[in-house]
Amino acid sequence: MLFYAEAGVDEAIGDQPVDRTVAPKATPLAKAQPAQAAAPAATAPAALASRQAQPVGPAILSAQAAETAATTAARACNTIAELEAAIKAFDGCALKATATNTVIARGTPNAPLMIVGEAPGRDEDAQGLPFVGESGQLLDKMLKAIGRDESNTYISNLLFWRPPGNRDPSSEEIVACRPFIERLIELVQPKVIVCTGKFSTGTLLGTTQGITRVRGRWHEYKRGDIAVPAMPMLHPAYLLRQPGVKREAWRDMLELAAKLGELGI
Ligand code: URA
Repeated sequence: MLFYAEAGVDEAIGDQPVDRTVAPKATPLAKAQPAQAAAPAATAPAALASRQAQPVGPAILSAQAAETAATTAARACNTIAELEAAIKAFDGCALKATATNTVIARGTPNAPLMIVGEAPGRDEDAQGLPFVGESGQLLDKMLKAIGRDESNTYISNLLFWRPPGNRDPSSEEIVACRPFIERLIELVQPKVIVCTGKFSTGTLLGTTQGITRVRGRWHEYKRGDIAVPAMPMLHPAYLLRQPGVKREAWRDMLELAAKLGELGI
């Protein structure tokens, strides 16, 4: 159990553990389907090879289909409320199946400052709101230190459903959710964007450099006619794990405060 806890696994998907290294025994159902049951108890390497070979085509196609569906749905929305409804109705991201809630945003729509994090965690999934757990509380404290709160900030995430066990988002999940966060940015029309963490930064700002290199420097979020100053920052969850880097985060907050002051917002 300690091993699982330390690895970040905090819930089981099924009621019973499944040992996937063992070839499945023939079941009454398998007997009723001779084509499948007839396959010899596959040796482990053969089973692995077939598992790896099969999904490649369909998985890429379905990611493309999901992206297309998300793009069409997002473009059809003209208000934040419509977009929220479209995200909740979207079935193209596999994370939805294991999530309790769709988590979209908190704060003030049309606020001048928009924060884009990575994905909901356990508390966010339970409450249906972004950044309400421990890292969200730290984020709120950091924002408060420069005079920001929900009344002048809008907070969202790159993904709208929790990755199980808080694992990293997959590229398929990012591709499926990206059209929605891009449309949300268009509708919120922030004057300044903060991307917390490497996934939000890499996806929205197109940088391939590590977050520790790009943090604290002004970038531009560019899509079509939109160009918004954007600052990559260390993710608050990282600051909780590495309190020694809070000094850098504070420097970035001061830089953000200066930009907001410069813009008079
Ligand atoms: N981490 C994030 O990136 N977003 C949340 O909403 C919570 C934790």
